[in-house]
Amino acid sequence: MKKISLTGIKPTGDLHIGNYFGAIKPALELAKEYDARYFIADYHALNSMKDPKELNSTIRQVAAGWLASGLDPEKVIFYRQSSIPEVFELTAMLMAFTSKGLMNRAHAYKAQVQENNEKGDDTDAGVNMGLFTYPILMAADIIIFDSDIVPVGKDQVQHIEMAQDIAQSVNANYGQQVLKIPQAGVQEDAAVIPGLDGRKMSKSYNNVIPLFVPEKILRKTIMRIVTNSQSVEEPKNPDESQIYQLYKLFADNDEQAALASRYRNGGMGWGEAKEELFRVVNRTLSPMRERYDAIMADIPSLDKILQNGAEKARPIAASVLKRFRKAAGVD
Ligand code: ADP
Ligand code: TRP
Repeated sequence: MKKISLTGIKPTGDLHIGNYFGAIKPALELAKEYDARYFIADYHALNSMKDPKELNSTIRQVAAGWLASGLDPEKVIFYRQSSIPEVFELTAMLMAFTSKGLMNRAHAYKAQVQENNEKGDDTDAGVNMGLFTYPILMAADIIIFDSDIVPVGKDQVQHIEMAQDIAQSVNANYGQQVLKIPQAGVQEDAAVIPGLDGRKMSKSYNNVIPLFVPEKILRKTIMRIVTNSQSVEEPKNPDESQIYQLYKLFADNDEQAALASRYRNGGMGWGEAKEELFRVVNRTLSPMRERYDAIMADIPSLDKILQNGAEKARPIAASVLKRFRKAAGVD
């Protein structure tokens, strides 16, 4: 039997280059040799998105982004989390095996608590139970399909480790392998894609290069990359520049070597380096953007694809749930 690869993306905003290289592209590579299940984590997004119109549209944007990036819904089971009620039943069962202490250590929750403490606010201000129990729903997403590998960026590794801990508590309790223990699949060369300001590219830092914006906006965004004050003549170290880090993702080996030596020899300013970056980024993103626009122009067909995916996913989810219920004595 083929092994199973599974991952999800929260529809909380525009997809960006970090999502593409950190999550989407490695996931699509894995789909060539694994049975893949990829989904839109819309109930995870509900924790922070309370505007129905906005959430409704970001769900479609992220779905269209996966398809425009090359996901083949005939080969990959592609669905919305909210269409699989078995995930939420499994979440309820996993709650019984998850200590509160484990959730206290989750990064997203801890970050909010720290921010509250720094501001002198109540410790739990802005923390809903969806945020606090986020890793349990994520564990259920993964465990419900007997996933072997979960391609994600580095920031998600803690969540996968928590899914392992939770599944292990279940197995230890029943003295048998009721639930499969998943592994994180982090691609080291794309673990952290830098953003415009050199920090990790993230919606939360407002430093992203979006995947599917018109060419003009893409160019403007790339021109906003923060650089130091080195003059045109000065030799530059390519490895210290996020322009070059981003360039490496899009350029072939000859192009990379050529640009690196121009940096080192001096005589190339940051403006020119950004133009060169724009050229290679746009070369890759143009055809993807065309596909994206076409998909977004036909939402009923997009919804149909997601619906078909859910229909394929639910019987698999139901069988894993049944196995757990039987082991737990609630069959
Ligand atoms: P954001 O930080 O913009 O909110 P998400 O948390 O929604 O992004 O991430 C969705 C997926 O994309 C996750 O698997 C995450 O690890 C990956 N990812 C996001 N930003 C980056 C980045 N800068 N480098 C590598 N992977 C990333
Ligand atoms: N937490 C992930 C993120 O913020 C999204 C996600 C939800 C996920 N469920 C998942 C990723 C299951 C992998 C597997 O990006």
